[in-house]
Amino acid sequence: MIRPLRSSDATFDEPGEIVAGLQQAEKMISPKYFYDERGSQLFDEITRLPEYYPTKTELGIVQANIAEITELVGPQASLIEFGSGSSHKTRTLLENLDQLAVYVPVDISEEHLLQSARQLRAEFAGLEILPVVADFTKPFGLPTPSIMPLRNIVYFPGSTIGNFTHDAAHDLLEVMHHEAGEHGALLIGVDLQKDPEVIELAYNDSAGVTAEFNVNILRHLNREFGADFDLDTFSHSAEYNEPEGRIEIRLISSRDQVIAIGGAEISIAEGEGILTEYSHKYTLGGFAQMAGRAGFRVDRVWTDADNLFSVQYCVRQ
Ligand code: SAH
Ligand code: AVI
Repeated sequence: MIRPLRSSDATFDEPGEIVAGLQQAEKMISPKYFYDERGSQLFDEITRLPEYYPTKTELGIVQANIAEITELVGPQASLIEFGSGSSHKTRTLLENLDQLAVYVPVDISEEHLLQSARQLRAEFAGLEILPVVADFTKPFGLPTPSIMPLRNIVYFPGSTIGNFTHDAAHDLLEVMHHEAGEHGALLIGVDLQKDPEVIELAYNDSAGVTAEFNVNILRHLNREFGADFDLDTFSHSAEYNEPEGRIEIRLISSRDQVIAIGGAEISIAEGEGILTEYSHKYTLGGFAQMAGRAGFRVDRVWTDADNLFSVQYCVRQ
């Protein structure tokens, strides 16, 4: 039985904070609410879609450069992964890193995290795996491993950094800078700006899985916070905003309606959208600048042949 470390704060916010998001001039729901158990499963399905290039491209980059990554990380490190999900790509690191001291997957999606940790423990019998259920945008504690690590490697794959505004991403990088410590480093996946058509297709798949993932956020709020969203009255929209360099995902209401949530009533007009996610795409220079402001120097960048995606190794400046 795996006993995960839980952050002292509740993982999900009070309904009041969700209501506040729905009362803004542009209604929004934080993308962290995508990830109930079903949402985590749907995300895994997304990663296998032909149109969704980020996961397979990132995995290819890590596999192609694993010898150099292993060399840079060095022996007996602790690997702390923010937003670990199914830890699918992490397996390449777990199989190759030299005498890894401990693996700490951190995720908000509790059942999915614990299921993944169970699976990993069966696959990597000699490795200490200490899952942490937490919202990583809030302060949370890290477990003490049995073997003293020589350094901390913060791992943040998937371009989950892109789901944060530039200010919030900078703040998160500062937290990672702190967690990495004096001798530590950050290994991060960053999706790159490219032909908008390729990006839009990745978020408008022909099988409709991304649409289902998007609508599932409302199912989660209905169950967790007693909201009364009628799922059939919202449709998926994902458009690339080229000047901002980001995909913007919304749920569009098909009629005028009033939603009850957390004791409040929210009026939504026909055609009005609720913003559920940004997915920012970076240039190499743009990311290096932001990482620099958070105290990191980009030491090594690996990309695929088509420059779709990047994996970056960042050290303290
Ligand atoms: N790292 C995996 C999964 C990416 S999906 C990959 O690269 O494929 C994003 C993951 O981050 C999900 O598992 C989700 O549950 C988690 N997540 C999103 N927001 C979070 C938050 N605020 N705190 C903790 N985990 C979060
Ligand atoms: C987790 N995150 C990096 C994904 C992305 O591409 O922004 C979430 C996602 N949303 C729709 N498809 C995938």
